[in-house]
Amino acid sequence: MTERKGIVRSRPSRLLRKLVVEDPAAVAAERLVQAAAAGGHIALAGGSTPRAAYEKAAAADVDWSRATIWFGDERCVPPDHEHSNYAMARAALLDRIDTQPRVRRIEGERGPDQAAAAYEDVLREDFGEGLPELDLMLLGLGPDAHTASLFPGAAALGESERLAVGIETPGMAPLVSRVSLTLPVVNAAREVIFLVSGADKAEAVARAFSGPADPAAPASLVRPCSGALTLALDPAAAGRLEGGA
Ligand code: 6PG
Repeated sequence: MTERKGIVRSRPSRLLRKLVVEDPAAVAAERLVQAAAAGGHIALAGGSTPRAAYEKAAAADVDWSRATIWFGDERCVPPDHEHSNYAMARAALLDRIDTQPRVRRIEGERGPDQAAAAYEDVLREDFGEGLPELDLMLLGLGPDAHTASLFPGAAALGESERLAVGIETPGMAPLVSRVSLTLPVVNAAREVIFLVSGADKAEAVARAFSGPADPAAPASLVRPCSGALTLALDPAAAGRLEGGA
C-alpha cells in the first residue's frame, strides 16, 4: 500500500493533514519522539490504540529527560488499575525508556471533580494563568466520535473556562467516571494528532473530519486554533472519508 498524503478541507478555513498508511502508530511514534527530543509538553491519549505507538517510541534512541508528559484524559481508578491510561502508558512507554520525562499524571483515584481541579492546578503551575499550549496532543477516536473523555452531547463540550473537568457518566466503556482536558486546552495545542485504526472507526472518522462541527461528534470540535491537525489513519479507518483509503 503506497502511503497516501492529502489535505482534507473539513471547512474552508481549516486544513487537516490526512495520512493514510498501513502503520499509523509509526507516524505517531515518530512525532512523539521528535517532541520528546525537543523537550516538549506532550499529552498522551488513552484507550488501546496508542499502545503500539508508545512501544515504538520507547524503542527509539532519544533523551526524554527534558520532556513533560501530560494526559488528555484518565479514568477515575488507581494508577495501577487495568483501566488506567497512566498504567497503559507506563507499561508501553515509561517503564521501557532509560531517560525519564517529567510526568504530570491525572490522579483519577481522587474522584472526577477533585482530580480535575487538582490537574487544573498542575497545568497552571506549568503554564500560568493563560491557556496551556501543549506542544503535541495525541488523541484517539471512539466509534461514537468521542475523543479524550468528551462524549457526544456532553455538557463538558461547552466548557469554555475550565482546563479539566470531571465526567461522572462516560458514554462508553469502561463505565467509570473520568477526567478530561477541555476543548479550549485541546484546541490551544500546537499540534494535534489523531491516531485511529480499524474499520469500526471509519464512520466516526467521516463524521468527525468530513462533516460540520457537531457536538454529536465531539472530535469534529477539535480544530486547533493555530496548531496543526493531523489524522494518522490506517486504510480501514479512512474507508468512509472522501477519497477513502
Ligand atoms: C480513553 C481515551 C479514549 C480513546 C477512544 C479510543 O480514555 O478511553 O482517551 O478517547 O482514545 O475511546 O479507544 P481505543 O483506542 O481503545 O479504540
